[in-house]
Amino acid sequence: MIVLGVETSCDETSVSIVKDGKTVLSNEVLSQIDIHKEYGGVVPEIASREHVRGITFVFDQAIKKAKINYDEIDLIAVTQGPGLIGSLLIGVNAAKVVSLNYHIPIVGIHHIAGHIYANNIERDMEFPLLALVVSGGHTELIIMKEHYSFEKLGETLDDAVGEAYDKIARILGLPYPGGPQVDKLAQFGKDVFHFPRPMIDSEDYNFSFSGLKSHVINFHHNLTQRKETIDIIDFCSSFQEAVTDILVKKTQKAIQEYQVKQIIVAGGVAANKGLRQKMYEIITEVPVYFPQIKYCTDNAAMIAVAGYFKFQKDPIADDFMLNGYSRLDLK
Ligand code: KG4
Ligand code: ZN
Repeated sequence: MIVLGVETSCDETSVSIVKDGKTVLSNEVLSQIDIHKEYGGVVPEIASREHVRGITFVFDQAIKKAKINYDEIDLIAVTQGPGLIGSLLIGVNAAKVVSLNYHIPIVGIHHIAGHIYANNIERDMEFPLLALVVSGGHTELIIMKEHYSFEKLGETLDDAVGEAYDKIARILGLPYPGGPQVDKLAQFGKDVFHFPRPMIDSEDYNFSFSGLKSHVINFHHNLTQRKETIDIIDFCSSFQEAVTDILVKKTQKAIQEYQVKQIIVAGGVAANKGLRQKMYEIITEVPVYFPQIKYCTDNAAMIAVAGYFKFQKDPIADDFMLNGYSRLDLK
């Protein structure tokens, strides 16, 4: 079964062709990072315009690189939310046009289901599993008892972990997106500042990163006011240690309560070297898997894989009322 995936929920225009929910025949990603960098973050209106400019080219490239024709595609899977509404609508409408023109069934996909299913590219997902979702907009622990079934154990009550990374990077004057920059510097430092680890021992599976973020920002502000020099490397390292301690501890708590066959990590922050290291080091009871780095951040291959499994489970296509939604529950 050949699935064409489309992802335009934020600042990446991506189209991918995936065979049988596993083999990536092409995965074209047109990134807008260089454009948004100038503003220190994604500007929604600019993002929508760039998707319009790039989408046809990205479709063409994905088809060309996969060496297939449109009439060989069995299903179209498109991100329908959550995300920036203007951006989502470009992908949804482009996908609907192709669906209508070539008579290909279409399914709408939740962006986080896509991030989770990026894990199936490398190896088959085994159930029940625990998914730690860490991206720019989400921080969640999810149990999956079978394909395309998601039970949320807990989530962030305020900032997502990627969002906190990006804000810390910003006060340090690092370019957008800051997460990878903080990660890079953190490798060389030590946890000398021992920042707080909010909710690390709470009874539930929820997270909170806004308190940690404010504490770190205030700490930086006070040092700058006093004209003290800040070791930016130790600063990044201390922040990363606090964040990864929280993520690993909550994951560990969940595997003590739920019997799972594997842990999968998903979303942009799954690219984080410190998180990868700590998860492998501390969680030894159950195998821990991460997607390849290129499938951690937004891409359409993960959407195509999710589409394949959604359609396998429930082979009912969406109709042309399919729409984009800035907020959407994972079901
Ligand atoms: O999943 P994603 O591409 O987009 C969303 O769905 O949000 O995640 C983007 C987020 C950004 O906040 C980015 O800074 C963060 O993932 N990120 C990282 C790393 N690579 C990307 N955060 C920490 N360390 C990294 N290596
Ligand atoms: Zn994402």
